[in-house]
Amino acid sequence: MTHKVTKAVFPVAGLGTRFLPATKSIPKEILTLVDRPLIQYAIDEARAAGITEFVFVTSRGKSALEDYFDHAPELETALREKKKDELLKVLDATNMESGAIAYVRQHQALGLGHAVWCARHLIGDEPFAVILPDDVITGEESCLKQMVDAYAEVGGNMVAAMEVPASKASAYGILDVQPSVSRCLPVHGMVEKPAPGTAPSNLAIIGRYILTPQVLRNLDSQQRGAGGEIQLTDAIAKEIETSDNVHGYRFSGQRFDCGSKAGYLQATVAFALSRPDLRDELESFLQELVATRQAAQ
Ligand code: UTP
Repeated sequence: MTHKVTKAVFPVAGLGTRFLPATKSIPKEILTLVDRPLIQYAIDEARAAGITEFVFVTSRGKSALEDYFDHAPELETALREKKKDELLKVLDATNMESGAIAYVRQHQALGLGHAVWCARHLIGDEPFAVILPDDVITGEESCLKQMVDAYAEVGGNMVAAMEVPASKASAYGILDVQPSVSRCLPVHGMVEKPAPGTAPSNLAIIGRYILTPQVLRNLDSQQRGAGGEIQLTDAIAKEIETSDNVHGYRFSGQRFDCGSKAGYLQATVAFALSRPDLRDELESFLQELVATRQAAQ
């Protein structure tokens, strides 16, 4: 029997250089898709998967994230006085139960593996999830919930996986797997950002993981990998060698890379078009825009 996954780590200590100058003073995870920050989508996904303890790995300049999950007494009082009950409900969804959320600092951005390792004392000796909030995934069932269900069957370590074009493989961690139609695939190897033409498959690792505490112990060595960073992929790859217990999970759903400008803009349009209060106006605006551009060509 596998241990229930109740803890999730949210590494949010990266520099967010692709969104400068916005990220000079705003954490990337506070950027909004329509009217909800990226981090809210990540928290909702975790809750839907049964997570009850949330560990944020933060860095200097990320206090907006801590404030976001706190109560806002002045705002709440003002809304109550104005009888804005709907807005009060919206705010309520952002408040976390006292003690459910913990923050640890990564003092230097040494890489994703290092960020996850910073949470080791709060994780202890149990399996845990990792969610990268800039990967936003939509679908009928939350990606992490799909993984938690599959994990209950196979245990070990699990990474979310998605097919990517060969030309993009060198931007991802890539899995070495046998071709299969199955959603859950045994992984024989993994390589972070392979040189062009050397990727072992077209299945890329996306920012959702379920990991054993052994991965945290593997990170103790602080070994640098691709790009001179301490890579989470390397610490998971060690588990393939020693325990052969890593699975890739081909989730059902659409993933937006909100760490990149193009992905963030695509997500903004897709999320707005899925909102009944915005759809019609935005759709006619986009149609007009496209028609005007085509006429000008
Ligand atoms: P990215 O590779 O997207 O890096 O990190 P970044 O710094 O956020 O953004 P760019 O590339 O400079 O624009 C993937 C995830 O890992 C976290 C990030 O916060 C993001 O959630 N991370 C990365 C850390 O927490 N610490 C690190 O040292 C590196």
